[in-house]
Amino acid sequence: MSDYKKPDYWSLKAQKEGYPARSVYKLREMDEKFSLLPRFLGADTSFRILDLGAAPGSWSLYVLRRMAGRGFLAAADLVPLSRQYDKGLFEGKNFFFIRGDITEQELQETLAVRGPYHLVMSDAAPATTGNRSVDTLRSLALVETVIHYADTILAPGGSLVAKVFQGEGSPEILKGIRERFRLGKSFKPRACRGSSFETYYIGLGKK
Ligand SMILES: C[S@@+](CC[C@H](N)C(=O)[O-])C[C@H]1O[C@@H](n2cnc3c(N)ncnc32)[C@H](O)[C@@H]1O
Repeated sequence: MSDYKKPDYWSLKAQKEGYPARSVYKLREMDEKFSLLPRFLGADTSFRILDLGAAPGSWSLYVLRRMAGRGFLAAADLVPLSRQYDKGLFEGKNFFFIRGDITEQELQETLAVRGPYHLVMSDAAPATTGNRSVDTLRSLALVETVIHYADTILAPGGSLVAKVFQGEGSPEILKGIRERFRLGKSFKPRACRGSSFETYYIGLGKK
């Protein structure tokens, strides 16, 4: 069975802990390492987060559970969120989901009016074709869109997390992040599959 088909340690752990996808452990590790969410997030009622490429919804659920009903989370994806584990959290007043393409201007405007945000996080990834150059190019186009969100609706001092397929062009993206943020880093969480060429670019402290 291929690396992608077998239910691995992280997928089984996600099921057990009530998350629809193993990717929650990537966000959790980045949060623990870089303090993406304030430690006492539930106490900060003004904190606003944007989750791009949010389905099936593990990152959104992680944030909503940490927020404990306060703050605000907006999320977007081409496909709907899974309702299997949310126990009503996706119907809460502090959550907004829009189905659509994050590269489209109308959707960007819908999200902008609900900002500015203190954290923009994107796990958005193109459907892979198996051709690494094609997949990398598509991923870079998405990351450029995510950086546009950071430029326009991320508050000064805010943070950015963006999934990137590494390849030609990705070092330039990291350079652009370093110019915009106090700290720009590439980080590959333990829960990324061994065979994958994905990593995350992190920007802390928007200038
Ligand atoms: C790896 S999944 C995200 C997993 C999610 N972070 C979670 O924890 O459940 C990547 C998502 O990116 C979404 N996506 C890819 N391109 C997109 C686009 N142009 N607009 C919106 N969503 C997109 C896909 O539909 C897919 O659901």
